[in-house]
Amino acid sequence: MIPPILYASDKQKPFADELANKIGTNSSSNIKFLDLPHLALSESGLSFFHPEARSSKKFQIDFDSGSTHWRVKRANHEKLIKKALGKSEEPLNILDCTAGLLQDTLLFLSLGHKVTALEQSCILFYLLQDGISRSDKKSIFVNLDLIHDNVRSYASMTEGFDIIYFDPMYSHGKKTALSSGQLEYIAKILETESIKNDPKQDFDVLQLIPAKKMIVKRPIKADSFSSQINYQVLGKTTRFDVYI
Ligand SMILES: C[S@@+](CC[C@H](N)C(=O)[O-])C[C@H]1O[C@@H](n2cnc3c(N)ncnc32)[C@H](O)[C@@H]1O
Repeated sequence: MIPPILYASDKQKPFADELANKIGTNSSSNIKFLDLPHLALSESGLSFFHPEARSSKKFQIDFDSGSTHWRVKRANHEKLIKKALGKSEEPLNILDCTAGLLQDTLLFLSLGHKVTALEQSCILFYLLQDGISRSDKKSIFVNLDLIHDNVRSYASMTEGFDIIYFDPMYSHGKKTALSSGQLEYIAKILETESIKNDPKQDFDVLQLIPAKKMIVKRPIKADSFSSQINYQVLGKTTRFDVYI
């Protein structure tokens, strides 16, 4: 279920109404919702709050500071992901099946590639769109097509990608490039929307998409989804399984 959108002042009401209409929920200024999971619209943009998250702060996407900004600034040092992509004279056409916070997508974009990124969560999709609209880095998003869809329904109608990239949610406690606070909030968002994942089933569907290469990001010690790996790029805590 999508929780209500709380707006901070009457100025935001028309935007809150419009967004609520699009995503199939209600808008409200009633403070009784403040202690429940909710979306919040204020002058500083759209955010999500969950009372059971460890962080008492609202969750908002900011592409111009914090870990995303830092990783994009040093994109050229991301040797593992560059090695997994391989050398290419031409920009690659990448399908990022698991947009998340767009951190990996932003690396691909800053390396000059084109990305179609899919996010199954409606809440996360609108938080990402809001983050993009507030970002100063408009030019980097020119080669991004961000789509709200589950990759399993998208897969059947797609072709023409060089790379299929898949970074499913890690099981609890596994290290990832996203901070545990960010991952916890993504998990809370999925829980709020009652979205359950089966990464192995997703993987089986993704393997049917015609592409030059499929790259799967895994925790270093996790089992691979298939024994047909062509090669692996190993990091300290994560690895990329590459299928050709
Ligand atoms: C671990 S996060 C990805 C992090 C991302 N690579 C980044 O750098 O920010 C996984 C994300 O993929 C989304 N996801 C998982 N399975 C999906 C599917 N079958 N279709 C679309 N999105 C999916 C989840 O909702 C979650 O936001």
